[in-house]
Amino acid sequence: MSEKITFAPISYTGWGSLEHLEEEVKRFNAKKILLVTDPFLEELGLTNNIVVPLEQAGIEVDTYTEVVPEPPLAIGEKVVAYTREHQFDLVIGLGGGSALDLTKIAGVLATHEGKVEDYLNLTGTKKIQSKGIPTILVPTTSGTGSEITNISVLSLETTKDVIAHDYLLADVAIVDPALTISLPSKITAATGVDALTHAVEAYISKFASPISDALALQAIRLISKSIRTAVKNGTDKQARSDMSYGSYLAGLAFFNAGVAGVHALAYPIGGQFHIAHGDSNAVLLPYVMGYIRQSCEKRMKDIYEAMGFSATNLSQTEASYKCVIELKRLVEDVNIPSTLKGFNITEDALEGLTNDAIEQKRILARSPLPLLKEDIYEIYKSAFNGVIIEKQK
Ligand SMILES: [Fe+2]
Repeated sequence: MSEKITFAPISYTGWGSLEHLEEEVKRFNAKKILLVTDPFLEELGLTNNIVVPLEQAGIEVDTYTEVVPEPPLAIGEKVVAYTREHQFDLVIGLGGGSALDLTKIAGVLATHEGKVEDYLNLTGTKKIQSKGIPTILVPTTSGTGSEITNISVLSLETTKDVIAHDYLLADVAIVDPALTISLPSKITAATGVDALTHAVEAYISKFASPISDALALQAIRLISKSIRTAVKNGTDKQARSDMSYGSYLAGLAFFNAGVAGVHALAYPIGGQFHIAHGDSNAVLLPYVMGYIRQSCEKRMKDIYEAMGFSATNLSQTEASYKCVIELKRLVEDVNIPSTLKGFNITEDALEGLTNDAIEQKRILARSPLPLLKEDIYEIYKSAFNGVIIEKQK
């Protein structure tokens, strides 16, 4: 099997890497910039790190803060209309996955006609034709991987859809852990487990390759080592740095190998109950991995070791069991409810969730164990009850 590997965009990583922003903006000869960001980042003053040096360099920066978590299609339409109307020559995204996803859409659709809706993956009628205006993405969370992928997620009424094209890839990503220091522990936990899930799912994906494996395992090492510290003590520089590199590596891993069952089942939870993407993944991670364990024992043993545990005296089967238990423990340790009941989801919702999840065919196709409708229902039930079960042979 051959695979396409994408290592874009040009990236600056590590503490203080935001210092490269101005030189990159000047490289594009940009004079009028749109900054897309979360409103609370402006309140915190974090936007000053971008606006002040650029304005001092004589560059006009317009700050757009109409970003909400899990952004609905209407927000996408608004930001694209605004970008077209004011004829910016570069868009910077500063924030979590929502701000970055909207930036990618704004950049590429600034030079296209029609509505955002026309370009949706499942129901769209138009194709993206050209690159759009340049984009620079600056994440302030360590989780989504949006800064390095070619995909933007939008919320529809009860589900989600995406716009995906290589032209959505940013021109530059600046991944500076210093920007994550003020991130509240609840968001650190949710985004951190999202990043871990990217790495775990990329590693067990049917489309994994030696390249994505290397990225995924190093991401699992860094995140497992530091997520608890980053959640408890957000000012710990080493932990924030590990989470930043871990999330970036996990993003590259899943961009190339894809995510699988956990994400497929998490999307309906986000869509129907408006639960944050990271939390939706976290509450399912141990149950999906427990259910499919027998289909990827060797790989789960590797994950267990990458999480920092010794499997020297364990069989592959024993290590894979322990891996599931440690994933559950990690979610609990960062204070995310480990059952659907904990998110006030009732048992009568499981059928509706199953009906939506089965539609995520593209994602489900990467699961090493084929997940049919009855399997998906069993996994939701297992996450509802908080009891790990596995596929009956
Ligand atoms: Fe994710």
